[in-house]
Amino acid sequence: MQELRVAVLGVGLMGADHLRRLAARTSGARPVVVADAFADRAREVAGELPGVRVVEDPFDAIADPEVDAVVIATPGATHEELVLACLERELPVLCEKPLTTEADTSLAVVRAEQALGRPLVQVGFMRRFDPEYASLRELIASGDLGRPLLVHCAHRNPAVPAHFTSEMMITDSVVHEVDVARFLLGEEVTAVTVLTPAASRDAPAGLADPMVVLFETGSGRLVDVELFVTTGVAYEVRTEVVGERGTAMIGLDTGVVRSSGDGRRGQVITPGFRERFAQAYDIEVQRWADAARRGTVDGPGTWDGYAATAVCTAGVEALRTGRRTEVRLAPREA
Ligand SMILES: NC(=O)c1ccc[n+]([C@@H]2O[C@H](COP(=O)([O-])OP(=O)(O)OC[C@H]3O[C@@H](n4cnc5c(N)ncnc54)[C@H](O)[C@@H]3O)[C@@H](O)[C@H]2O)c1
Repeated sequence: MQELRVAVLGVGLMGADHLRRLAARTSGARPVVVADAFADRAREVAGELPGVRVVEDPFDAIADPEVDAVVIATPGATHEELVLACLERELPVLCEKPLTTEADTSLAVVRAEQALGRPLVQVGFMRRFDPEYASLRELIASGDLGRPLLVHCAHRNPAVPAHFTSEMMITDSVVHEVDVARFLLGEEVTAVTVLTPAASRDAPAGLADPMVVLFETGSGRLVDVELFVTTGVAYEVRTEVVGERGTAMIGLDTGVVRSSGDGRRGQVITPGFRERFAQAYDIEVQRWADAARRGTVDGPGTWDGYAATAVCTAGVEALRTGRRTEVRLAPREA
């Protein structure tokens, strides 16, 4: 295939970023079509880029003969039918997380792709493409840390939108830690417990912030996640692996160390996920486009999307009941 001609569905925050990334920083691919429920927004974003057409209906964009591949960046609740429509046309897809919002619908996507006999869908778990996470995984694989026993994760946001709920702390934020745990440890999460300590007085009423989430894995290892989404500080995502022969940590923003006039020395903390993971998003989209042109997927696939959704479904139940909740995963093959 010459150049991958891409449709971007949903050009809000993530979709507009991916569109510009495809236009300016991805080789072998270019955006040709955008669709967004908010047509004015689609026209505005497409207007910045020559050669990009607006198509009103995202299903028409998927059916467009000029489209070879699709990036889905609409809200999670719309993903299921859009991904299934792409699979019907056997188009490669980069679907932002979550694959779908419920475990059973994610499993239906896994099965629909399996029926085609080849992988077509990559799910937007971009941390796998972040150089620090990739190095941590390589370190684990080298055996130098010994067998990993524990993983400690911290996921801190300075603030969240007013509509953000405690459940969304699991489905929107912890979902990334689920994928990190599976990526680093190479096994499934089998049970989830959610603890809600005294809430910060700065958190909106009713938001269980901070929250501690504990994953158990198939071989009996533990992953703890501190989630704190109203720190007022900056965007901090930290991961530490404790092995039998050492520990390793990433996410300290150890870029330029600067001295300032008030006699302090330090680093700048990234303000948000777009800055912290900018390089990861670029690598993610480039690897997706390269693999799509070869007719395959080179990143987290439908099974990874399904497993993450299943763990989050269990997590939401654990939050609601206050009880340890087992994850119910279907057999990998139908
Ligand atoms: N990987 C990450 O780090 C990351 C970060 C943020 C968001 N996301 C994911 O990206 C997706 C989009 O999030 P966002 O923050 O860009 O949201 P957003 O609200 O900024 O943008 C969503 C866009 O989709 C459009 N839209 C809604 N329904 C549509 C439909 N049926 N057809 C066409 N367009 C439709 C909206 O008009 C809007 O412009 C979500 O799945 C979210 O979870 C991933």
